[in-house]
Amino acid sequence: MSLENKKIFVTNALPYANGPIHIGHMVGYIQADIWSRFLRMQGHDVVFVCASDAHGTPIMLSAEDLGVEPEELALEYTRQHENDFKDFHVSFDNYHTTHSNENESLVREIYGKLKENDCIRTEVIEQAYDEQEGMFLPDRYVRGTCPKCNAADQYGDNCEKCGATYKPTDLIDPVSVLSGKAPSLKESEHYFMKLGMFESMLSEWIETIDIHSSVNSKLKEWFEVGLRDWDISRDDPYFGFLIPGEEKKYFYVWLDAPIGYFASLKNLSDNSDLKFEDYIHNDSNTHMVHFIGKDIIYFHALFWPAVLDGAGLKKPDAIYVNGFLTVNGEKMSKSRGTFIKARTYLDHLDPEYLRYYFAYKSSSGIDDFDLDTADFENRINADLIGKWINIASRSSKFIREHFDNHLSKDIDEDLMKTFDLKADEIKAHYQNREFGQSMRKIMLLADKANQYLDQEKPWIMIKSEKEKENVQRVCTNALNIFVKLSIMLKPVMPDVANNVESFMNLSDLDWSNISDVIKNHKIKNYESLLYRINEEDIERIIKK
Ligand code: MSP
Ligand code: ZN
Repeated sequence: MSLENKKIFVTNALPYANGPIHIGHMVGYIQADIWSRFLRMQGHDVVFVCASDAHGTPIMLSAEDLGVEPEELALEYTRQHENDFKDFHVSFDNYHTTHSNENESLVREIYGKLKENDCIRTEVIEQAYDEQEGMFLPDRYVRGTCPKCNAADQYGDNCEKCGATYKPTDLIDPVSVLSGKAPSLKESEHYFMKLGMFESMLSEWIETIDIHSSVNSKLKEWFEVGLRDWDISRDDPYFGFLIPGEEKKYFYVWLDAPIGYFASLKNLSDNSDLKFEDYIHNDSNTHMVHFIGKDIIYFHALFWPAVLDGAGLKKPDAIYVNGFLTVNGEKMSKSRGTFIKARTYLDHLDPEYLRYYFAYKSSSGIDDFDLDTADFENRINADLIGKWINIASRSSKFIREHFDNHLSKDIDEDLMKTFDLKADEIKAHYQNREFGQSMRKIMLLADKANQYLDQEKPWIMIKSEKEKENVQRVCTNALNIFVKLSIMLKPVMPDVANNVESFMNLSDLDWSNISDVIKNHKIKNYESLLYRINEEDIERIIKK
């Protein structure tokens, strides 16, 4: 799929604003950020947005418990998340919230179109109801015995023991998680999106977009089962947007959440030169990409495009799905100390270590991947410090001590070419989101640079006056290679790359600078660009 001359619109799944984000969440945000930064470095026009997902029952109930308004709680977490992302160097062009005026008017507009196009119907349905709390219960708020295998204390939507899926009303001896009482059954009228109308459109459309083959197969399974109409309303009490014409019925959070992508873009356009209308129409010259985790495929590949299609708007061009992060081989868990909040990590370690590790582990596929703390430590110390940074620290030493920080007047251009020639391969891996491949290839190049220094042995040459000039040339060559590798790593480690620019006395490096020759140029004194990780830092995070 060619991205040439397109406006690229990148989004990340909107995190729920009802709790702190953890390093598992960070996988998708870091992947999307690396890709966006890489494309910007190629000169593409990229707009990268996110927002908090503010609505829904869980946030309403948490706010109630804390004795605050849900708006307040959502705002608090929105700010927290925004800071976490900033400190992980995620370069969103805008961070907004679904609980915003922009979102409400877009939701109304889109819903109006859906109604106009006869995509909405109503139906009276029966649901579990908590008399004491005076509210209908979402599936997850009812527990009971599995009707299939008799396992006790299972959720109202599926059994963790046997995997059966069912309705909460099918449970044996169901109780409300809120009051502990048996729920009653109560009728209410709901709004449904007629998903069946879109079945053939969707099954054709998924063949035209950029989506991993394993996700495509998953979608085909769902088409085989058939698409059921989708319930888009919730009864009071609920934290969300009221349905026009109703006083006690709200849009379900998953209807307004993806519209939040557009709301964030709209909010950005109101505060910049960007033109919102350029992005959302069917004939827009836009490439729209959603980065999401594997648990929310259904919403993004079926519901959302159906909503967009029904409203006559542009559908996504790509959906990139990440697998789930485990820590030391296990699901993140509070009791094992492997539930690591983004902020806890940031309090102890450099964010770019984790960015590198995630890049190193990433592919375009949806496999889960593991943060193995011993491997993490080793990757950082062996790859980043031992290979990449080492090139600079070894060679700049001679340049400083013997040449007053001056690089030589000429360099070995043939040697440089052998490195430049690899740049296109690495670039292709980045573009295909095979970040692990990029990282491995960059580290092989770093090995080559170190081997070059080992062979030339500047520390021996420097002892002979005759060879002195040669030392300057060898170290200048090595520093040129170091800069090339730093450019290649810049999408992953933007901060370290900025420090490299400052140390080398160069301005903002882009991919197009990879073959530039740096000679007869004064650099600054080398100061450590990255520190080794020690085991204690990691232990401290786990203990927290
Ligand atoms: N609010 C919804 C998304 C709405 S998008 C219109 C949501 N929020 S979330 O906070 O639960 O998750 C945010 C993102 O993090 C999702 O893409 C989710 O898949 C991802 N992850 C949550 N836990 C994760 C891991 N352990 N590992 C990798 N990704 C994880 O879903
Ligand atoms: Zn069961």
